[in-house]
Amino acid sequence: MNIQKPRGTEDLYYEKASELSALELILRNIVMQYNYYEIRTPIFEAKDLFIRAVGNETDIVTKEMFELLDKKERQFVLRPEATAPVIRSVIEDKLYGKYELPLKLFYFGSMFRYERPQHGRLRQFNQFGVEVIGAKNYLLDVEVILLGYNLLKALGLSNITLKLNYLTTGSNRTKYIEVLTAFLKGQNLCSDCIIRVEKNPLRVLDCKIDNQKFDQAPKIYDYLPENSQNEFNNLQKTLTKLGIPFVLDHKLVRGLDYYTAVIFEIIVNNQDQELTLLGGGRYDQLVNSFEPSLDYPAVGFALGLERLLLTLAASKISLADEPYLDAYLVCLSEHARAFATSLLLLLRGSGFRADCDYLLRGVKAQFKSLERLKTKNAIIIGDEELKKNVVKIKNQITGKEQEVKFEKIIAFLSKENR
Ligand code: HAM
Repeated sequence: MNIQKPRGTEDLYYEKASELSALELILRNIVMQYNYYEIRTPIFEAKDLFIRAVGNETDIVTKEMFELLDKKERQFVLRPEATAPVIRSVIEDKLYGKYELPLKLFYFGSMFRYERPQHGRLRQFNQFGVEVIGAKNYLLDVEVILLGYNLLKALGLSNITLKLNYLTTGSNRTKYIEVLTAFLKGQNLCSDCIIRVEKNPLRVLDCKIDNQKFDQAPKIYDYLPENSQNEFNNLQKTLTKLGIPFVLDHKLVRGLDYYTAVIFEIIVNNQDQELTLLGGGRYDQLVNSFEPSLDYPAVGFALGLERLLLTLAASKISLADEPYLDAYLVCLSEHARAFATSLLLLLRGSGFRADCDYLLRGVKAQFKSLERLKTKNAIIIGDEELKKNVVKIKNQITGKEQEVKFEKIIAFLSKENR
């Protein structure tokens, strides 16, 4: 077969699939402690949604969207992120009128970006994210940041850094952009940045090539109006009081245009390589930009699950249970195999992980198989046993073997498993 998976995608099976499921379960449990509710949106959406929400000049919109045309030539894209779809759904289904405010939503899902695949950068990847809609309050920003930080800590990561910056809007943003542009024009910039200075000067600050040149660039948080300055100060004070370490990073700009206030990223340092695990911020005008009659400020973040799994693996942290079987049915005859079907039904119905051989293998091979499957109990069934209404149960850990009556099998295994 010469058909391969598309570049930048992954097949997940066995250990990796179990790690991802285990991770999703842990994240789900934590986010529910914070009283968030799940939302699932389609994986494809109208192209215009992202042009308007994420921004016409962003890399995501200009270079990275997988585009689809339906049979009527309407333009769709595979979603590159989930904030815009969540906001679309909130507006379209009027969630703000149906549920307690602020809406506290979380999601899991695949996102698609046409990027150059590399370590931790895929074309299809999974995000876990939260969006809180309908309140503007720095304590809520703290809650969202705390959630992101604490869940990474809860997973056992220690080498993470929280970076903060604060964007502004309106005339303050315009004033800052002027000062920044003047500074940038005095620098020797890469060819991409020469274009970015004209179109979107803020984006120049996170250029990977020129990054160090901007250490001395004017800092956006020095150009905030008084109320934003107070809000940002309060947020920092609260994080400090809660013992959450952070660094201010004036070069943090995020790759999406909807942010209006605090923005943040959590990065991990692995063998001198920085990887952004999580990014987010406040976006107070997105709802309003789609529906001018509505004013629902919002804040949220998304976490890249593949990057997180890479990081956990590098830190030797494993989340999934070691695979095992409670019982494997070793069948010595045709009759035994027929009986095994009903015994499996009983065992599984009673909550045991159980299996048997379907390749008609001999006893030795069945024992090999059950060892590979890390089985706790071998249940041996032969014609002699069937005549006496018993099975032999061999505890694979102690090596002890016992005859057990059919009707006592469940009680016996329950006792063994305690
Ligand atoms: P983002 O920074 O574009 O933000 O993505 C969030 C996270 O998704 C990144 O930090 C990274 O871990 C992961 N990620 C992004 N691109 C890739 C990729 N190509 N391969 C693997 N992982 C990737 C957003 O998507 C915003 N919607 C976050 C947000 C929510 N802001 C407010 N609410």
